[in-house]
Amino acid sequence: MSDNLSNNTLVTNDLLLQAINLSHKFDYELFNNINLSLHKKESIAIIGTSGSGKSTLLNILSSLLKPTTGEIFFKQKDLYSLNKNDILDIRRENFGIIFQAHYLFRGFTGTENLKISSLLSNNNIDDDLLKELDIDYIMKQNVGELSGGQQQRLSIARILTKKPEIIFADEPTGNLDKQTASIVMSYLNNYIKNNNAGMILVTHEHSLATKCDKVFELNNFKLQEK
Ligand SMILES: Nc1ncnc2c1ncn2[C@@H]1O[C@H](COP(=O)(O)OP(=O)(O)O)[C@@H](O)[C@H]1O
Ligand SMILES: [Mg+2]
Repeated sequence: MSDNLSNNTLVTNDLLLQAINLSHKFDYELFNNINLSLHKKESIAIIGTSGSGKSTLLNILSSLLKPTTGEIFFKQKDLYSLNKNDILDIRRENFGIIFQAHYLFRGFTGTENLKISSLLSNNNIDDDLLKELDIDYIMKQNVGELSGGQQQRLSIARILTKKPEIIFADEPTGNLDKQTASIVMSYLNNYIKNNNAGMILVTHEHSLATKCDKVFELNNFKLQEK
């Protein structure tokens, strides 16, 4: 009994995010009865065909969209029962959301884009990170002059600069060639292992998904572990 209790406590302490009984519909139902847990140092990939609802599910998990039914707990806090400002604080301080379209500040340099994140989070810009992502040499250029792949890596660097506890990423390597995508994936995976963080990643590429600890497929209204 006491053994069970201490095991439970251990598991609870490691738990970063828990989704309970999620369902969502816009004009028609996308999915229902989805349950998912993310632990520290864990990466989860969500795969599925286009239109199956992956981005919608990621938006729900990352505090951006209230599900039709269900709850998301971030470290024991029921996200969608919090007031707007508390959700915003969590999104700013604890979550790192990497979108398909990266919202960099155009007309500003790479460094300026990272500085904003650095100032807001009180973390220094990590030069090793920039080298690792192979963008250290373009930091003085304006965002508008960068290639799609460079912008994507810059936006990943910007998210990592604030040291999020959970990374939510929607096709984060969609603009990258295979080799660069693989480097970025390794970096993200190393980041979560070294920082006690977690990651939920949406991709349609199986080769990327299999680099995560767990792979789930969104199909036919359900999320199933592969
Ligand atoms: N804000 C929205 N309002 C209405 N329908 C939406 C909205 N967002 C997504 N959808 C619809 O939900 C379905 C799933 O979209 P999405 O989650 O983007 O799928 P995926 O990322 O798997 O391609 C699509 O049919 C899409 O048109
Ligand atoms: Mg999508």
